[in-house]
Amino acid sequence: MPALRSSLNVPVPTVVVVAGDGDVLKSAAAELARGIGGMTGRELAVGAAPSSGGAVYVGTLDRIRTAVRMASPPADLDPEAFWIGITHPSGIAPSLVVAGGSDRGALYGAFALLREIAQGHDLSQLNRTEAPSAPLRWTDEWDNMDGSIERGYGGRSVFFDDNHVVPDLTRAGEYARLLASVGINACAVSSVNANPLVITDAFLPELARVAAAFRPWGVRIAVSIDFSSPKRVGGLDTFDPLDPKVTAFWKDRADAIYRAVPDLAGFVLKADSEGRLGPSAYGRTHADAANAIARALAPHDGVIFYRGFVYDHHMDWRNPKNDRARAAWDNFHDLDGKFDDNVILQIKHGPIDFQAREPVSPLFGALKATNQSIELQITQEYTGQQRHVVFLVPMWKEVLDFDLQADGSTPVSALVTGEHFKRPLGGFVGVSNVGDSSTWLGSDFAMANLYGFGRLAWNPALTPERIADEWARQTFGNDPKVVETTSGILLGSWPAYEHYTGPLGTQTLTDITGPHYGPGIESSENNGWGQWHRADRQGIGMDRTVATGTGYIGQYSPPVAAIYESLKSCPDELLLFMHHVPYAYVLHSGKTVIQHFYDSHYQGVDEVARFLERWRRLKGSVDDERYERVLAALEYQEGHAIVWRDAINSYFLKLSGIPDATGRAGHFPGRYEAEAMRLEGYTPIDVTPWETAGAGKAVSCAGPGPCRASFKFDGAAGKYDVRVRYFDLNTGASTFVLHVGSKTSERWKADDRFPTKEPNGHSSTWHVTHAVELSHDDVIVIEGTPDGAEHAPLDYVEILAVKGHRSVGP
Ligand code: GCU
Repeated sequence: MPALRSSLNVPVPTVVVVAGDGDVLKSAAAELARGIGGMTGRELAVGAAPSSGGAVYVGTLDRIRTAVRMASPPADLDPEAFWIGITHPSGIAPSLVVAGGSDRGALYGAFALLREIAQGHDLSQLNRTEAPSAPLRWTDEWDNMDGSIERGYGGRSVFFDDNHVVPDLTRAGEYARLLASVGINACAVSSVNANPLVITDAFLPELARVAAAFRPWGVRIAVSIDFSSPKRVGGLDTFDPLDPKVTAFWKDRADAIYRAVPDLAGFVLKADSEGRLGPSAYGRTHADAANAIARALAPHDGVIFYRGFVYDHHMDWRNPKNDRARAAWDNFHDLDGKFDDNVILQIKHGPIDFQAREPVSPLFGALKATNQSIELQITQEYTGQQRHVVFLVPMWKEVLDFDLQADGSTPVSALVTGEHFKRPLGGFVGVSNVGDSSTWLGSDFAMANLYGFGRLAWNPALTPERIADEWARQTFGNDPKVVETTSGILLGSWPAYEHYTGPLGTQTLTDITGPHYGPGIESSENNGWGQWHRADRQGIGMDRTVATGTGYIGQYSPPVAAIYESLKSCPDELLLFMHHVPYAYVLHSGKTVIQHFYDSHYQGVDEVARFLERWRRLKGSVDDERYERVLAALEYQEGHAIVWRDAINSYFLKLSGIPDATGRAGHFPGRYEAEAMRLEGYTPIDVTPWETAGAGKAVSCAGPGPCRASFKFDGAAGKYDVRVRYFDLNTGASTFVLHVGSKTSERWKADDRFPTKEPNGHSSTWHVTHAVELSHDDVIVIEGTPDGAEHAPLDYVEILAVKGHRSVGP
């Protein structure tokens, strides 16, 4: 990757003067030397004394004060705070200063200064103090000990493999650096679906190695624990949190872990959820469970994050009063005030599970005497799994700004930081799930979410626009065209995703019993998982009202509940989360629900198509490697948005029987279904669910192949894009060849790794050949050669005139 260049409008320092000698401060100094050196092309020395050429001073405020006179430094700084400024020492050139309340504060200040420089900001008047919004700014990694990562889309774990810590922790250390650069101060390295191995004696030296890799960056590690550990690895016959043997077990483990990792940040616990054992096994409360473990951690200054994600996934879907959205509040609101001071409830931002849109969890407003934190998901489990550009910061920002009116004005940010109810602890947890991929999360743009999470946790008042702009500049440089395009794509991406997946608060409409990726509308219904949207022939939506529904809305404070309870005031974007209405119900926008579905799905695809067009204009302005990678990703995204659009529109067209007023849904101009082509070797198959393939069918090549599917182009002569829609299963790498007339021939392999071995909305993808000259009656042939258990499945071919090109004759 090319170095980003930036010029300083103050003298370029020749030396980094370090006031202190801790490892974290050394990291800060090294970052300044490396960052400023890299951006200006000058080499900086690191030393204890300035040279006449000007310096960057870095250290704690106390030590710097004695080293150099500062213009207007603050009198005092909290440990994690920093001051960055410019000073004019006598005898040397104007110099930059990075002063921290502690070494860690200085490190955050160093990164802040580098951000300023990278964005080309004027430093001549620099004089800024910053402190984080909350003490707890963590990421959770869902890494399993075998090296796989639950809901991870960026490769394998950088921490674990084969039930051990990996021998080479270089990437882990680089990750800690990345986290520190955006102010994250702790990281739970093991999955919430915890393996008890992590707290056993044999494992502790390995854990200590991870902590050591993180320590120079001021990031403490934490681990997730299994509540049944006393039984599973402690040799006890119980894990009852009130049993003295169990409390002794947790004390013994905590003491042992802190001997190995004296600065461990604490534990994360998922209990009584999705099959994980918890206190209900003994009729104990979540407070009993959390406190039993918290008391073992307290002498070591450790904390426990107790997850609010507790629900019954075997709920009876036939009972219209049942509602998973109620679960967090029902489980925890009565326990407010019963948790020890080193317990923090970790609450997912919405009441379900990181859907494309959810209301804010009412539990945030219900806890006045309990520490709380917000759990946001950086890894895009339900939002395109890093294959779709979906910048989540605008969504998070809406959540953080939402006023729950729990006690006067209480935006979520003021509740989770602990500020409003004066809680000693509080903050932010981002489920990150980076892996060993060169881009960490598996895609270039996905890193804007990790960046944005850290920035918002530091300062929830930052705007999405500012965060997108900062990220764009630091990632691709300060070329205005690149910055504008990149941040434009980022800022438009969550709305686009919502438009082509589940709008109006229907959640994502993805396959919830499968990989949570492509469309799977019916998967939500008729099972106990509780992600119900209750679509039937007449209407759609969950009635969560107090008057006639599940009563979920009553969990909000009266003013907020009043907004949601009434159809008149419920915002369109959450309508179907809160109410069940007929398809012909008219929204505030003036459209019917069903017409909104149709229109928004076309709109979402158009939005992605425009991202692609805009990105194409950056050729030559972004390095080729990343340009091509992002281009390919956006091309795929456009194709997959079409899969979503057609699945949802076709499904609801059929179910409701109400046509699209614009005539688009159910009509596919230029489309030739494979099963209607001339087939040699290929045979038709049914695709499940039907809405994820054109007309519910595809063709499959059972023999060794190649199989052929061909048809005559019946349009007018002209220039066309030829889109071959096929399924790329993870059971092989079939080969496809496309022949268009005698002129064009393309060959490609279906060798991507989508999360399925079946043809469906997860595996549906396309190959686009742009601007092909076609004549009426040209024969188009697709040859598919199977590989392994992948039978070169083919769905359809679509031939669309190139925009702006007029076809002629026949
Ligand atoms: C989601 C996710 C699970 C995860 C769970 C959790 O349901 O699909 O993989 O374990 O959240 O947050 O605990």
